[in-house]
Amino acid sequence: MMLLWAALCLWPASGLSGPPAAQPAVTIKGVDGEVQMPLLGIGTWQYNNSVAKSAVVSAFGLGYRHVDTAAAYQNQVGVGEALAELKLKRQEFFITSKIPGGLNASATAAAADSCLKELGVDYVDLMLIHFPADFGKNGSKKERQVEWTALEAWAKSGKARAIGISHFCRRQLDDILEVAHVPVAVNQVQYHVGMGSAGRMATDDRDYMRQKGVLYQSFSPLCGPCNPPDNKELLTGALVTGIGKKYKKTGPQVALRWLVQQGIPVIPKSHVPDHMKENSEIFDFELSEQDMTLLTKAQHPAVGGGPSASDSGDRGIEEELVV
Ligand SMILES: NC(=O)c1ccc[n+]([C@@H]2O[C@H](COP(=O)([O-])OP(=O)(O)OC[C@H]3O[C@@H](n4cnc5c(N)ncnc54)[C@H](OP(=O)(O)O)[C@@H]3O)[C@@H](O)[C@H]2O)c1
Ligand SMILES: *[C@@H]1O[C@H](CO)[C@@H](O)[C@H](O)[C@H]1NC(C)=O
Ligand SMILES: *[C@@H]1O[C@H](CO)[C@@H](O)[C@H](O)[C@H]1NC(C)=O
Ligand SMILES: *[C@@H]1O[C@H](CO)[C@@H](O)[C@H](O)[C@H]1NC(C)=O
Repeated sequence: MMLLWAALCLWPASGLSGPPAAQPAVTIKGVDGEVQMPLLGIGTWQYNNSVAKSAVVSAFGLGYRHVDTAAAYQNQVGVGEALAELKLKRQEFFITSKIPGGLNASATAAAADSCLKELGVDYVDLMLIHFPADFGKNGSKKERQVEWTALEAWAKSGKARAIGISHFCRRQLDDILEVAHVPVAVNQVQYHVGMGSAGRMATDDRDYMRQKGVLYQSFSPLCGPCNPPDNKELLTGALVTGIGKKYKKTGPQVALRWLVQQGIPVIPKSHVPDHMKENSEIFDFELSEQDMTLLTKAQHPAVGGGPSASDSGDRGIEEELVV
């Protein structure tokens, strides 16, 4: 744990009025050297342009400097409007976007260019391939290699500081590493309290990603899309709120702290400024080793809130796509 913390450093303070807290960051492998990625960002999945715009304006007003969006979210215009309105210097904030999987070379460049156009920026900090196949779950090794190679060429023209993947398992990462000339910076996958002891299939092979130098990033850190009754477990559940009492912190703060204390970036989504503020106040306390272990051992909420911690949707992809 000490080693991990030593690798963290501070994100530069902002130019916004008022002094938002400096944002702790992790180092990822960029196209052209190391890149700092803030450990906290605002998620935008399922938000339309207007909700995404107000969420980004509020979050950045509270000191966030990282936003997670995607072509598939159809809200990049709103995100871009927010960023323009905030009038920050471009290098003061971090944008992650995603292009669909399963694209050929020309479609890859076109999709990625379209993200920049919608966002109204010259470059993104991180561009991910959203899925190891198309959204219909059809894909192949060859297609993954073609798309990655095209994404590398696009990024090298200065349009992304780092590139990576999302939902990829070990075999799918290996497909890309066979042809990669640019580091695979990040794998963004579902990971939250309840999955800490889940097997490699449920966690997109967390340890393998790390072994290959791919930063493991959490999505749905509060189990947002998990089914009831599990879906409030990381907000009001007994485990996270019970631990939180000791530190005068809330359930979501404990759930998020468990991730960032491991050097795993989080992108909690909220459209409520009080929740955003709460979710950002996770860098002023440290969970004890004992509490970290309790959270790691939790068996629920599982992936997608399902009945077991080994029911990753991605496992199905891995098995379907063997070619
Ligand atoms: N790569 C991918 O395929 C992928 C997939 C899923 C998600 N993601 C990314 O990860 C982001 C986060 O995941 P997510 O949107 O699935 O869900 P999440 O962040 O785990 O949870 C969001 C839910 O939690 C609630 N919430 C947040 N903070 C709260 C707080 N402090 N107190 C009470 N409720 C709180 C929000 O409601 P309120 O608005 O009421 O606060 C919202 O309903 C996404 O938005 C997206 O950017 C990526
Ligand atoms: C965006 O979503 C919000 C919340 O669901 C809704 O109230 C609003 O009408 C939507 N805006 C547009 C333009 O669809
Ligand atoms: C690449 O994909 C696009 C979009 O599906 C398609 O229009 C185009 O014909 C494809 N190009 C090649 C060379 O297959
Ligand atoms: C996947 O590919 C198969 C075979 O080409 C096709 O029949 C099927 O419709 C595709 N599924 C989707 C969701 O695109």
